Amino acid sequence: MAIEHRRLGKHGVLVSNLCLGTMNFGWHTSEEDSFRIMDRALELGINFFDTADVYGWSVEHGLTEEIIGRWFAQGGGRRDAVVLATKVYNPVSRKANLPEPNSDGRNLSAYKIRKHCEGSLKRLQTDWIDLYQMHHIDRDCPWDETWQAFDNLAKQGKIVYVGSSNFAGWDIATACQEASKRNLMGLVSEQSIYHLDNRMVELEVIPACRHYGLGLIPWSPLGGGLLGGALEKVESGRRTSEEMLKRIEANRDKLERYEALCRELGEPPAAVALAWLLHNPVVTAPIIGPRTMEQLESAVRATEITLDEDALAALDEIFPGPGGEAPKAYAW
Ligand SMILES: NC(=O)c1ccc[n+]([C@@H]2O[C@H](COP(=O)([O-])OP(=O)(O)OC[C@H]3O[C@@H](n4cnc5c(N)ncnc54)[C@H](OP(=O)(O)O)[C@@H]3O)[C@@H](O)[C@H]2O)c1
Repeated sequence: MAIEHRRLGKHGVLVSNLCLGTMNFGWHTSEEDSFRIMDRALELGINFFDTADVYGWSVEHGLTEEIIGRWFAQGGGRRDAVVLATKVYNPVSRKANLPEPNSDGRNLSAYKIRKHCEGSLKRLQTDWIDLYQMHHIDRDCPWDETWQAFDNLAKQGKIVYVGSSNFAGWDIATACQEASKRNLMGLVSEQSIYHLDNRMVELEVIPACRHYGLGLIPWSPLGGGLLGGALEKVESGRRTSEEMLKRIEANRDKLERYEALCRELGEPPAAVALAWLLHNPVVTAPIIGPRTMEQLESAVRATEITLDEDALAALDEIFPGPGGEAPKAYAW
């Protein structure tokens, strides 16, 4: 392998097998470095970028989309080269804004989808979003309303595809069935947390994605840095946070075995964790979260590694997962 372009599930659009996650931009990564990382990603063949209206929140909601927008505004064909994914669901309130009950809550109302799409388009300095994702399931809003809101945006040329994130398997099934009743394309992808140390999606989400032809794009593929060589001493980045240091301690035994296995394989831990995800045919592209240029460059190694049966079995032993798909994992 190497960076290659593949279909998003059963759908026609071609995306790179690594998706560039931008959640660190404006938070842990400066605007200048974010620009360099995005330019280098394109040079490497990574054409799939993921963001969200809410990213940048620890500084200001929407800041990450604004950084991407200023990067697009430099021209040079940057916007056309990217399959751009963003998300709606969370509040994106700015300190100076008047309180706004519909926007400040978390939901997928038609009101919010229209308004927040306009906000994202403005911040991203683009006329369209390629993949507009529901950041979370909203079980209180009727599907009639949500699908109509997305359909209106698609007809206006403001969005091309719709994806989900943080949906249960049965939410994916419901959303797809409800879309098909209305002769809509429905969901093209699901974005779920999935990494060696969190394999819950193997029970219901992965079978649902396979059945409905959705591409699975795993978020936090390194568990937020835990699987990226967390036992090394670091001076900066997310692994210096108190929460992360606690997680590292709680997982020390597993991480020692994991990092020893990676040394035996002669590969960096981050590349092994990403290669393991790429092994699953339902996975289209892990959403990598580089904080630095070096982390971007080293992630590409994952696309060149093939893990043999012994390596896969050793990883299963350290990180057992739920034991397969439902119901066999717990019944027969
Ligand atoms: N849909 C959702 O609810 C949701 C939630 C979270 C994230 N996401 C998406 O998923 C993307 C990735 O999530 P994430 O940032 O949590 O991913 P991650 O890869 O699990 O964690 C990123 C952290 O891992 C470390 N890292 C990254 N690349 C590395 C490498 N090559 N070698 C060693 N360490 C490396 C860095 O830690 P240090 O900072 O310690 O160096 C980095 O900050 C986000 O950018 C966002 O687009 C979506």
